[in-house]
Amino acid sequence: MSIERTRTGNFNIARDLVVEIGKNLLMGSSVFRRLRLRKPRTAVGSDVDDFLTNNAFTSLSLLLEYGGEPRGKSVCEIGAGDYLTSGLAILGAGAARYGVIDRFPGDYFGETAKRWYREIESRWSRHCPDIELNQAIASGGFPENCSEILELVGEPLETAKVANRYDILCSFQVGEHVSDIDAFAEIHNRVLKDDGFGLHRVDFGPHGAWFEYADPGVFLRFSDKVWNKTGSNRGVPNRKRHHEFLEAFERADLNVEILFLDNFDRTAMDLTKLNRKFQEMPIDSVLTGTAIYRLTKKRSRLQAATKN
Ligand SMILES: C[S@@+](CC[C@H](N)C(=O)[O-])C[C@H]1O[C@@H](n2cnc3c(N)ncnc32)[C@H](O)[C@@H]1O
Repeated sequence: MSIERTRTGNFNIARDLVVEIGKNLLMGSSVFRRLRLRKPRTAVGSDVDDFLTNNAFTSLSLLLEYGGEPRGKSVCEIGAGDYLTSGLAILGAGAARYGVIDRFPGDYFGETAKRWYREIESRWSRHCPDIELNQAIASGGFPENCSEILELVGEPLETAKVANRYDILCSFQVGEHVSDIDAFAEIHNRVLKDDGFGLHRVDFGPHGAWFEYADPGVFLRFSDKVWNKTGSNRGVPNRKRHHEFLEAFERADLNVEILFLDNFDRTAMDLTKLNRKFQEMPIDSVLTGTAIYRLTKKRSRLQAATKN
């Protein structure tokens, strides 16, 4: 039995593993799954400003910092979470259109969602003092009155089809959850305008129970077989590493700029305990904690598409 030091004391990896496998088995039951999916997944927390920071304004800030002004642009987001809070912030900052592709779309039109939309409008100047709120959005009728500038696609990105082509395709904390990273890369060729770009923040770190451990690599110690038992019925991380994303982008004919990278604290990790699969990978890739990628279509792919 392996007892490890954690951020808050001593935890027991075997016990946490059993709990995670149990949660996955429960999610395999259709009744439990229906009940669980009715609860918000990403939108938890009680302080309004914290909630808005985490679920609306951080996505807008990342877009502004790494993608530039969304004013006048069309923006499509993959995996927006429970509500259209980031979408409202992006439209509030002047985007011309917002689309969302999510395999488990939230209750975008419900009362809870609308409470958050009202809060975004009323607290706008506190969070975005330098950006004038787009008054066309601030009419209180979001999202019903905005159907002409919203596109809601409740499907996995693997099969999703959009009616519009977009200037920007973005995602935040989604790439590490998708089951097929080649599909994550390939969707740029279907959704982006020729001169558009993708902007994605991928969180390669531990999630849930594994986040509590002082060693950020505990979740990379399990074989794929054991890891799949903890998550085949729910959205645990796919454990794809940085270099695997780069390879998938290359296969999809995308140019990649790495705009941000940070690493795990190597001194906090016992690398000898990593599963063999990860020990055989480039170590810098295994140690990547967060990455932000900017993707554009390769000229060769565009020329081939024009010929056909
Ligand atoms: C961890 S949440 C991130 C939510 C939000 N972007 C945030 O930063 O809090 C991951 C989101 O990706 C969505 N998702 C996961 N796999 C997907 C797929 N294959 N296609 C579309 N959406 C997917 C989930 O439904 C969920 O809304």
